[in-house]
Amino acid sequence: MSGPSTYQPQNAFLKWFEARLPIGGLIHSSFIVFPNPRNLNYWWTFGGILAFMLVAQIVTGVVLVMHYTPHTTLAFSSVEGIMRDVNYGWLLRYLHANGASMFFIAVYVHIFRGLYYGSYKAPREVLWILGMIIFLLMMATGFMGYVLPWGQMSFWGATVITNLFSAIPIVGETIVTWLWGGFSVDNPTLNRFFSLHYLLPFMIAGVVVLHIWALHIPGSNNPTGVSVKDKQDTLPFHPYFTVKDALGLVVFLIVYMWFVFYLPNYMGHPDNYTAANPLVTPAHIVPEWYFLPFYAILRSIPDKLGGVIAMFGAIAVLFVVPWLDTSKVRSANFRPLYRQFFWILVLVSIGLGYLGSRPAEGGYVIASRILTVYYFFHFLVILPLLGLFEKPKPLPASITESVLGKGAANVTAGAPAAPQTK
Ligand code: HEM
Repeated sequence: MSGPSTYQPQNAFLKWFEARLPIGGLIHSSFIVFPNPRNLNYWWTFGGILAFMLVAQIVTGVVLVMHYTPHTTLAFSSVEGIMRDVNYGWLLRYLHANGASMFFIAVYVHIFRGLYYGSYKAPREVLWILGMIIFLLMMATGFMGYVLPWGQMSFWGATVITNLFSAIPIVGETIVTWLWGGFSVDNPTLNRFFSLHYLLPFMIAGVVVLHIWALHIPGSNNPTGVSVKDKQDTLPFHPYFTVKDALGLVVFLIVYMWFVFYLPNYMGHPDNYTAANPLVTPAHIVPEWYFLPFYAILRSIPDKLGGVIAMFGAIAVLFVVPWLDTSKVRSANFRPLYRQFFWILVLVSIGLGYLGSRPAEGGYVIASRILTVYYFFHFLVILPLLGLFEKPKPLPASITESVLGKGAANVTAGAPAAPQTK
């Protein structure tokens, strides 16, 4: 899509270097002149926000590690030491802990944006699947990171989640012992979680490179879902989208900093400020908020193995969305019925999140069951059938037409459009 690079090295050294490693040309063609659909809205700024958050988590994490001790007898107090004795340690820790939540807020927006605009459809299926792999790696990283401070919720959360594997017939117990590195969640478990929590973000970074590579083959989808037809439909990435992404990022950072400075423990759990105690089980064991919808699905099934299968199934179904959705039209803007079902899915997911935070009893369990059934119904029944029966609205002939109205074909390629008259 970007074509051969038009990059001209500016001095003799850059010319010499470029002939040996053409990285300037790669950056120039991928992030300076790369043609993007001219109608991208602010939902398209979240990919850049996610890239920023990944770097922020790695940087704050690497510095936190300089003061953290991955041992059951010292982990909790080393984190308290970071909060009280390390210069700006409180800031680092709050940036990292709230950063994890903000990362998940951004990724959920990014995923639902993809679901709304049909960004997973051909030719972007591999891009979508790489995104889902990133999502899985993020969940593993978030889960193991929460264990590191060795508070009550760290310990009991790790115990509940690792124990799920015991539901696997025959080999379940062996797998759990293997995961723990012993006969309960203990020091070997903390050590391996620490090791993997440090490793996985770098694996995520690797998959992000593939994700952006796969994005740059077809280029971005756009709010109309209509493919780019000619040069008029696009604008160079810089300055148009660098500036738009920067504004999106600044607004996002304001929200992030609001949490860090004014509500730093809002998204955490008070029990994690008590050191882990294997002899005292907390009244309610709840994971971090971003796992709650999946936790609700897990607990909605009265059988342990069934619950585990449903929970993993809820993620697995997202991998195959490109093949479950049979509609030829990408964007929900032109799919009146799908649009309604999309918003119902958003509400159902939020509802499941709420139910995941409640005790698994009475009406909460019944509501979780209803919403779980609906969740799967959406993907396995509604999506395949809608494509066959829904009558989409007429699509614009091109992206340019959708931006400027009919008769806009004479706008100069690549230049900013004339002001709209209506
Ligand atoms: C660390 C996490 C991630 C990073 C850094 C990242 C980065 C990006 C970037 C920079 C873009 C282009 C800008 C944009 O469209 O917003 C993008 C597009 C996309 N991402 Fe991600 N992404 C991540 C996770 C995910 C996940 C979990 C999914 C879900 C499956 C996903 C699916 C997509 C899709 C489908 C597109 C194309 C959107 C379109 O062109 O309409 N990404 N991503």
